[in-house]
Amino acid sequence: MQVTNSTWFWLLLLVSAVTSGLLYSYSTKMLTNINLGEISDNSCNEFEVKCSYLLRSTCLNKKIILKRMISVTNYTPNLEEHSPWNRKPCNLSVAHAVQKHDHFKNKFNFSIPVLLWDRLFSRELWNQLDQRDPPYGWQGLSYEVIVSTLNLLNTPTNAHLFEHTMKQHKSCIRCAVVGNGGILNGSRQGQEIDSHDFIFRVNGAVIKGYEKDVGTKTSFYVFSVNTMKNSLISYRKLGFTSVPQGKDLRYIFIPSNNRDYLMLRSAILGMPVPEGRDKGDQNDQELLKGWLARFSFVWTRPQAYFGPEAAASKFKLLHPDFINYLKESFLKSKLIHTKRGHLYIPTTGALMLLTALHTCDQVSAYGFMTSNYFNFSDHYYEHKKKPVVFYMNHDMPMEAILWRNLHNAGIMHLYQR
Ligand SMILES: *[C@@H]1O[C@H](CO)[C@@H](O)[C@H](O)[C@H]1NC(C)=O
Ligand SMILES: *[C@@H]1O[C@H](CO)[C@@H](O)[C@H](O)[C@H]1NC(C)=O
Ligand SMILES: *[C@@H]1O[C@H](CO)[C@@H](O)[C@H](O)[C@H]1NC(C)=O
Ligand SMILES: *[C@@H]1O[C@H](CO)[C@@H](O)[C@H](O)[C@H]1NC(C)=O
Repeated sequence: MQVTNSTWFWLLLLVSAVTSGLLYSYSTKMLTNINLGEISDNSCNEFEVKCSYLLRSTCLNKKIILKRMISVTNYTPNLEEHSPWNRKPCNLSVAHAVQKHDHFKNKFNFSIPVLLWDRLFSRELWNQLDQRDPPYGWQGLSYEVIVSTLNLLNTPTNAHLFEHTMKQHKSCIRCAVVGNGGILNGSRQGQEIDSHDFIFRVNGAVIKGYEKDVGTKTSFYVFSVNTMKNSLISYRKLGFTSVPQGKDLRYIFIPSNNRDYLMLRSAILGMPVPEGRDKGDQNDQELLKGWLARFSFVWTRPQAYFGPEAAASKFKLLHPDFINYLKESFLKSKLIHTKRGHLYIPTTGALMLLTALHTCDQVSAYGFMTSNYFNFSDHYYEHKKKPVVFYMNHDMPMEAILWRNLHNAGIMHLYQR
């Protein structure tokens, strides 16, 4: 019988899949059997309060959880954390342009914390945010899930968008914020985008094949679990087959639901999502279909999204209070007063761009909606021109006017053609 190359390939794949499966169940068994006493009793007691929820929700990997929690908790904050950035201002900065503008100087408040992390949590904050629906607050969310997630975000890297090593030698932080608008098709802005210090991307950010138009670098990927998963499904055929990954890449979660906190926590701990809509990651299994899905442990872990080195330092979480302030100050749509007003939510792209405007010194926006949007496809990566889709829960015309006004005020640069 002739054995073809492809038969060999499948045989090899089968053998390696079976072996890794055995290894996995073996290592799981080992870990389950590890006595917690191996970690000193003190550290265990110290963490008992923090861990209780996690220990209850999973009988696996206790040691790993504790080890990871210890390693993130023992982090010594950098002394310079509390001093202002040691650098000269830009000639034309966002803050400077805001100060000079009669309308926008009353809208921007640069004192509101952009990111939420362990040290900002308190009973008081819980009571305050428990009054508002997500993503503006925590109403209806689980206290335990939120506390156990925030406990893991406990280093200064979780408190600042730009970490110390990132902003070294930079006298002025220039950011490119890249939306997915059809205006970028054929734009040849790739090099210009890549020349910025930091590059933000969002949702279905296809890069392969569009490098000349959208660049190659990504510093921050901004998403909610809902928009990330929808993008992986809707734009898969158009080339969005995985979330951008990389050693220096950071993820910015928009906490619009319990599932965002659950996914974030699981990603840091290196575990499958223990409960809720993403338990077992049905969407991914659907994508895989067939017998491969049986080995789903390989795919159901959040590392499949965020890469193998998904430690706490890779993740940032937008503060619900910051999202609320953005809505009140910049994104207060008239839709709120309609029958379906409760469904209204700013777009992920809008939250991304406004986040950059509150953290970078200079901001250029690419692929955001312009007044001639009808001349372009919905996204730059469609194969045939497709009209822009206006979602009922978003107010894209209002956002487009905001971008134009910010551009005209000299606060940011909006790419138009
Ligand atoms: C900033 O201002 C200084 C002094 O006015 C000037 O020499 C320099 O070229 C300016 N830099 C940029 C990027 O505009
Ligand atoms: C800006 O935000 C800070 C922190 O939340 C708050 O104390 C201050 O009153 C705000 N300033 C204005 C002008 O609203
Ligand atoms: C832009 O769209 C309008 C309306 O569809 C059309 O009349 C116009 O020719 C288009 N312009 C360009 C440059 O494609
Ligand atoms: C992208 O641009 C090319 C060249 O300008 C054009 O032929 C094509 O139709 C555009 N694609 C979409 C989806 O608009």
